[in-house]
Amino acid sequence: MHDVTATQSFLPSGRSPQFAALHKRFPTSAYLRARAPRNVPFFAFEYGDTGAGADAGIVDNWAAFDAIKVVPRYGVMPSLPPTTVKLFGRQYTAPIGIAPMGGPSLVWPGADLLMAKAAQEAGIPYTLGVAGGATIEEVAKVAPDVFWFQLYRFARNHHKIGFDLIRRAQEAGVKVLALTLDVPVRTTRSRESYAGLGSEFRPSARMIYEMMVRPKWLMALVRNGYPRFATLRSYAGDVGTNETINFARREMGGAFSWEEVARYRERWKGPMLVKGILHPADAEKALALGIDGIWVSNHGGRQIEALAASIDVLPAIVSTVGKRATIVLDSGIRSGQDVMRALALGADAAFAGKSFLWSVAALGDVGPSHLIDLYIDELRSSLGQIGARSPAEARDAVVRHPGAWRFDRND
Ligand SMILES: Cc1cc2nc3c(=O)[nH]c(=O)nc-3n(C[C@H](O)[C@H](O)[C@H](O)COP(=O)(O)O)c2cc1C
Repeated sequence: MHDVTATQSFLPSGRSPQFAALHKRFPTSAYLRARAPRNVPFFAFEYGDTGAGADAGIVDNWAAFDAIKVVPRYGVMPSLPPTTVKLFGRQYTAPIGIAPMGGPSLVWPGADLLMAKAAQEAGIPYTLGVAGGATIEEVAKVAPDVFWFQLYRFARNHHKIGFDLIRRAQEAGVKVLALTLDVPVRTTRSRESYAGLGSEFRPSARMIYEMMVRPKWLMALVRNGYPRFATLRSYAGDVGTNETINFARREMGGAFSWEEVARYRERWKGPMLVKGILHPADAEKALALGIDGIWVSNHGGRQIEALAASIDVLPAIVSTVGKRATIVLDSGIRSGQDVMRALALGADAAFAGKSFLWSVAALGDVGPSHLIDLYIDELRSSLGQIGARSPAEARDAVVRHPGAWRFDRND
């Protein structure tokens, strides 16, 4: 008999009309990454793509995913499975989201809003970074149904700015709040530094040349203006880009203490995650404070190289948390297959950062939509291949995970 479903799985099944055409040129995220440096200034690509040190953290994240193998079950499914999921009581098209970033607008001016719009259209979560290039209010307009917000610590004056930010987020209808805990210190990233990016944005002659020879990027700059901490501008006053950067550096810093997490928990009325968790005991601590979700992450390998890959600590965190909280994972996602691996190991959803920057650098306006389509298409095929009839069923798969960490009681 003719096997219709096998044929279907070879056809790109993304939503956007241009997906089939784009799929021919950019069939995986690696193609987007390869194209990105041709469209954006050197410093912009380096900023978005770099890890800490010599990038060993990024390499480890990718290798950790590649090492995870799954044994499929066959004969169980007549067609490609749906990918829809419920996260914190809301329905999304797929368990895939966009991670918060500060500085997407440096990689591509206007990138934050492009990603937000694409996420809204696709029905997947979009997380605005507090240090990002669009305001809370702007994102609320273009991504009202999928809007998550990430906060760093603004502790001066008894958290005056931090508390005001969550007030704004609440008023703007943000669905989920994430507090980032994994930046207790600022670290330096060598590629960023070598590319000429310092504590201020002062383009050198070389950087200006790099901008001049990237006309598409320049046009985006003309349309959107210089990169800036958009959400923080209202606190910095009517000052220029560098004054805003200095203001942000002064105000923002250190990681939230558990006592502070508890205070934010009290004020924030909706679901709340802590982001950057790698130790099961920290997950337990968060649950004790009434946190609804654990965001397992090593910041995409950008803090220091020696951190455990988040996918490798995921099983231990899942077994500690059980059904008591939603588990989100990021750091190293490059395909829908990686998303399936994270689901198989117990995550409720997987988010990606850098690959969305590659998408926008490679393809401008249509980049994020293409990557979302690609990830959903790959996820659907991967679920279908292993015999999972839904994202949740991926958990039933038999998995070999050589890098999995075991935590002894005294760890
Ligand atoms: C350019 C860039 C900026 C980032 N800025 C933030 C940030 O402001 N806040 C935050 O919580 N995480 C930030 N992250 C980390 C991401 O949220 C996410 O944890 C990480 O990118 C996931 O790994 P991946 O890049 O391998 O997908 C940033 C990541 C990148 C690439």
